[in-house]
Formats: sequence, C-alpha cells, structure tokens
Amino acid sequence: MHSDVSSRGDEKNRGAGEKLTGKKLTDAQLLHLITTEDPGEMRELFAAAGRVREVHYGKAVYFRGLIEFTSFCKNNCYYCGLRKGNAKIERYRLSPEEILACCRMGDTLGYKTFVLQGGEDPFFDDEKITGIVSAIKKEFPESALTLSLGERPRESYERFFRAGADRYLLRHETADPAHYGKMHPPEMSLAERKNCLRELKKIGFQVGAGFMTGSPFQTPGCLLQDLRFMEELQPEMIGIGPFIPQADTPFGSQSAGSLNLALRMVALARLAVPAALIPATTAMGTIAPDGRELALKAGANVVMPNLSPQNVRKLYALYDNKICTGDEAAACRFCIEGRIRSAGFEPLMCRGDWAGFTGRKTPPGNTLKK
Ligand code: 5AD
Ligand code: SF4
Ligand code: FES
Repeated sequence: MHSDVSSRGDEKNRGAGEKLTGKKLTDAQLLHLITTEDPGEMRELFAAAGRVREVHYGKAVYFRGLIEFTSFCKNNCYYCGLRKGNAKIERYRLSPEEILACCRMGDTLGYKTFVLQGGEDPFFDDEKITGIVSAIKKEFPESALTLSLGERPRESYERFFRAGADRYLLRHETADPAHYGKMHPPEMSLAERKNCLRELKKIGFQVGAGFMTGSPFQTPGCLLQDLRFMEELQPEMIGIGPFIPQADTPFGSQSAGSLNLALRMVALARLAVPAALIPATTAMGTIAPDGRELALKAGANVVMPNLSPQNVRKLYALYDNKICTGDEAAACRFCIEGRIRSAGFEPLMCRGDWAGFTGRKTPPGNTLKK
C-alpha cells in the first residue's frame, strides 16, 4: 500500500541519516559528501539535513523582507556586478524616506524582519545608518532588523547594535585564504572578514556568514574549509548560493555553480550548525526554477523576498538573470508563500529568531559610549 511504502522509505532514510548526524564527520567523509553525485547518497544527505532542521524549527519557513538600499560599492570583488570597476551599471541610493516606505509596505504584507542590504557605500556613514536604524525600530519596534553593509570598524558595528539592529549578514565568501585571494583584489583579506564576523558576534548580533558554491578556482578542499569554519564560528545564519556569472565582471565568462553542489552544501551546513537559520537564496531560484524549494528540502528554513522599489530592482545586479526583478513586493510575498506550502512547509511571518535566541544582550565590556 502507498502509506506502507512511504513509511518504509522513511525508515530507510532514518537509518542512513543516523550515520550523518550526531557525530563529527571526518574530512574524508565530508569530501565525499561534498562531491558525490550519487542520487541515493544525495537523497540520504538531504533527508538527514531535513530531520535536523525539523528538530529545531519544525516545518516553519521564516520570511525576511529584503531592501537593497544602495548599489554603490567601493570594493572590487571579481565576481560581483556591483564592483566599483563596473562602469556599465546605473547606480542608485534609496533615501531614508524611501527605505521607510519599503518597511511600511513590508509591514502591511506582514513582514516582521527587514534586511537592509547594500554595497560598501561610504556615503552611508555611521550617522546615516544609525539614523535609519533608529527610525525603523521606532516605527516597527516589534520587528527585527538585519544589516548587511559589509566590513566596518568595530565601533561602527557597536553603534548600529546600540541603535537597535539585531542581526548582521556578512558572508565570508570562502574560508580558504588562497581562494579568497583569487576572488578579491589584494586590498581585501579573509583575515579581516573573519575578524569582522568575530567582532559582530561578540557585540551581540545574530551573525550570518556564508559562501558561494561553484565559484571560480573553488575546490572541494575549499568547501571543506567553509564547513570547518562554520563549525568553529557557530554563526546564527548561513547564506549559501551558487556563483552565477555577471557579464561585466572579470568572471563574466566563467560557468555558474551547479544546483546539486549548492544543495549538498546547504545540507552539510545544516549538519555542521544544526540550529542555524539558512535561507533558500535567490541565487538558488535563479539557477533552477524550483531551486529554492529544493533548498528547503535540503535543510534551509528562511526565504528573503524582495521589498526594494520596483524601479531599482534590476539595477541591483550582483549576477545576471536574477529572478523577481520584475515583480512587486506583494507578488513575491504571495508567490513564495504558495511555493513553500506546495513543498510541504509552513510559511511563518514572525520575527523568526535563531532557535537558541534568549533576547538581546548587553554587549560585553564598556566599549559602548553614549
Ligand atoms: N553570483 C552569486 N552570488 C554573488 N554574490 C555576489 N556576486 C555574486 C555572483 N556573481 C553574493 C556574495 C555576496 C552576496 C551579497 O551576493 O556572496 O556576499
Ligand atoms: Fe561590493 Fe559586496 Fe559586490 Fe563585493 S560582493 S563588490 S563588497 S557588493
Ligand atoms: Fe518573487 Fe516568485 S518569489 S516572483
């Protein structure tokens, strides 16, 4: 009977999954799982990751409203369309009033987390950012606020936290220093990136690290280092997406990362940091029409639909063919909700804090000046 077959399937997966969870996998085991294209092994891996996610979050999938507030960037990462050296894109900045209007739209749609993301744009100095953070938290005190503005000195991060920001996303991009050197110009360093992540954690932010999969020059060994770094840092959030070429960058003619590799890394990140918040990223949905649903089934539990004004969506071109650039905030909100339900999960419009969250803590030390 049908139900018998499916429950036997579950039993089988449960047995196999136990081999993957609850104990530290060796480097050799991880390298095998990073690279395997065996459908049975991948099924086992995704099922094991799905069960670990369920222990901490059940079937819940949390929503974040993404506001891409500046496409200016002073950096020159070789993979990214927003790099300073790309003269071909039209740049924009949202005004504080426009950012607040996005939050109001998001609030109407039920969002309880806003993510302010941008390039590293010195125009938005600490004062401007703290002003925007305070204004958002004043109007939406129940909502969580995530920042993603790149590397800043510790004092800046402290000011943002004190103004009310709750979380900070800063992907490390690759935990292999030599690989980092091939993806970034010499003035950028993995050591500095890691240092920022550690400072952010100490200050009290829920912190998101993360990396691209299938990026140029990446080897399975690089991805092993990413997993080991996740185990060491224990970030509250892990953003993973396939590399996708952007034509006007030095990596414009490289090929995109594969869907399977991205899914395996989502699953392995779930096993490495069981209670992490892991988004089914837009890049996943860009390389495959059902990429985000498959990521949820491989252990992800967050989606980040776009709240940016429609007239600037196409300009935030990290990579080519990005999805949702023509869609209204409301359209994305309801589209993704339907997709989550169809995939068997439960969309939840709550703050969606990390499972171990016990409330905002005062940062250690006396470094926060009035
Ligand atoms: N393909 C996929 N992801 C990219 N990002 C930047 N450029 C690309 C690309 N070409 C990711 C980086 C960055 C995040 C905001 O977008 O990981 O941290
Ligand atoms: Fe700037 Fe971030 Fe793009 Fe690098 S990845 S160029 S820091 S927006
Ligand atoms: Fe944006 Fe489907 S999520 S249109």
